[in-house]
Amino acid sequence: MHAGRSFATAILPLVLALTPSAPAHAQSTVALDPAKLAEIRESNAKCFACHSADGLKSPPRQDMDFDKLKSLLHDPALYETSSHGRVECRTCHGVGSTTFPHGATLKAQVSPCSECHAAKVYRIETQFEASVHAKTQKDKFTCWSCHDGHVYNIAAKIGTPAKIVAQDNAMCLDCHNSDLQFSKFAPVGKRRPTIDTIHAWLPNTKSHWGSVRCVECHTPAGRSFSHEILDKSKAEKNCVSCHSRESSLRTRLYRHLVAAEEEKFGFVNSIFLSQSYVIGASRNPWIDWSVGAAAALLAVGMLTHALLRIGAALWRRRERRPP
Ligand code: HEC
Ligand code: HEC
Ligand code: HEC
Ligand code: HEC
Ligand code: HEC
Ligand code: HEC
Ligand code: HEC
Repeated sequence: MHAGRSFATAILPLVLALTPSAPAHAQSTVALDPAKLAEIRESNAKCFACHSADGLKSPPRQDMDFDKLKSLLHDPALYETSSHGRVECRTCHGVGSTTFPHGATLKAQVSPCSECHAAKVYRIETQFEASVHAKTQKDKFTCWSCHDGHVYNIAAKIGTPAKIVAQDNAMCLDCHNSDLQFSKFAPVGKRRPTIDTIHAWLPNTKSHWGSVRCVECHTPAGRSFSHEILDKSKAEKNCVSCHSRESSLRTRLYRHLVAAEEEKFGFVNSIFLSQSYVIGASRNPWIDWSVGAAAALLAVGMLTHALLRIGAALWRRRERRPP
């Protein structure tokens, strides 16, 4: 297999060169008028004037509860690169956030996700309602329990699997690795099971946390991604679901990579060849085909060579024969 892989690596550029590439699609980043963007940044800077580490040092007014402010700081750089980086703070927090002191009802005024993402929320909410968290922790558990909308970024924008994994697993582990956070949501008296102990059957447990997401095993198989976190009895334990050519990760964690590669090279699975993210997933029909074709060519070449030599020998023998 190893010889096959290095041969495959050598022949891959050739195969790629011969493969007709798919038409390039335009990147779907929504352009925003620079003047409008500057306006949004300026508006948000007014909030960061207090709600950031720098702001806390010299806030524009003194008549507020700054002890409380210490626990309400946000990072402008993280915010600006998040999915909501071009949304004004006050569109979610309401006009109450622009008056000082803010007033006691500010917290309750925040817009729910559905106010702006009606269609998406409609689809996701049904899955979420069926999840273990929504069932066992009704009312307490919301979209916001996992998604910090000040920092969250969609996978398509993050790009590399390691970074997507880091963000999405942190969502779960912020709670599942913290007794304090877990106890805020768990039924009274329930002890937090230690994540590494529960998954001790998974070899290299810690290294799996760096390369694969919790949701890969804890949501229904066969869908690109679902918000339905299943009961533990239905979690994935089968290694082959990921460690195989038909890896479920192709339609999940790697779906953006697969799409990008397909666009670039015009055939599926190439991402597994160039990056070999998943052991055992690197088999590819193109490689099998090209290895087979090369072997056949070699055989034909050897046969021709042999025939030529036999022919030449016979010819020479005839030459040498006295007339
Ligand atoms: C002059 C400083 C200052 C500015 C400017 C400021 N805030 Fe605040 N904010 C505070 C302080 C102090 C608190 C904590 C005390 C309180 O709740 O009033 C706070 C609390 C909050 C809270 C939490 C309320 C709660 O009850 O948990 C939110 C949300 C908030 N601010 C949003 C904003 C937004 C959005 C902006 C910009 C439109 C903004 N703030 C601008 C000082 C400021
Ligand atoms: C997409 C909607 C949305 C946007 C945009 C948004 N927030 Fe929030 N924010 C929320 C929600 C929802 C909560 C309540 C979270 C909770 O209940 O734990 C919150 C909580 C807060 C809090 C109090 C709790 C905390 O963790 O600090 C502050 C302060 C705050 N936001 C400031 C800001 C600032 C400053 C901006 C702009 C730079 C901003 N928010 C942009 C939705 C938003
Ligand atoms: C005030 C309106 C508003 C609210 C409330 C809001 N969003 Fe958004 N959200 C937006 C806008 C606008 C964008 C697109 C920003 C852009 O294209 O620059 C966006 C983008 C996103 C994206 C990435 C792009 C996409 O289209 O999928 C995600 C994910 C997202 N929001 C999740 C949430 C979640 C989860 C909540 C609730 C916790 C929430 N949003 C609440 C306005 C909102
Ligand atoms: C248990 C944690 C959890 C909860 C609760 C949760 N989400 Fe998510 N959400 C995730 C994870 C993990 C992803 C990343 C999925 C992916 O990229 O495949 C995600 C992705 C998303 C996306 C982006 C999908 C895309 O196009 O890349 C949106 C939008 C979203 N969630 C909205 C919501 C809304 C709305 C709710 C509440 C009804 C919610 N989420 C509740 C964990 C959660
Ligand atoms: C805000 C805290 C919090 C977050 C975030 C969170 N969980 Fe949980 N989760 C809990 C609590 C608390 C329980 C225990 C509920 C109970 O026993 O009633 C639980 C239970 C579970 C269970 C066990 C269900 C069973 O059958 O006993 C699984 C599996 C699970 N969570 C997976 C996840 C995954 C995957 C994520 C991230 C996508 C996640 N959780 C995010 C708090 C959280
Ligand atoms: C390779 C698949 C896989 C991955 C990845 C995975 N889990 Fe699990 N998880 C399982 C299986 C299978 C079980 C059931 C184990 C059992 O019952 O022996 C389980 C059980 C659990 C439970 C139930 C604990 C209990 O006994 O109450 C929680 C909570 C949980 N996982 C959270 C997580 C979190 C958080 C992550 C991400 C850091 C994660 N899982 C990643 C497969 C996985
Ligand atoms: C949800 C998908 C998934 C499941 C299920 C899964 N793995 Fe993995 N595993 C991965 C990924 C992704 C990697 C990282 C591969 C890489 O970096 O090339 C990995 C890496 C490994 C490694 C190499 C670890 C290292 O540090 O180099 C071993 C060994 C492994 N898995 C064994 C298993 C076994 C045995 C099972 C079943 C008990 C299993 N895996 C289940 C996704 C999975």
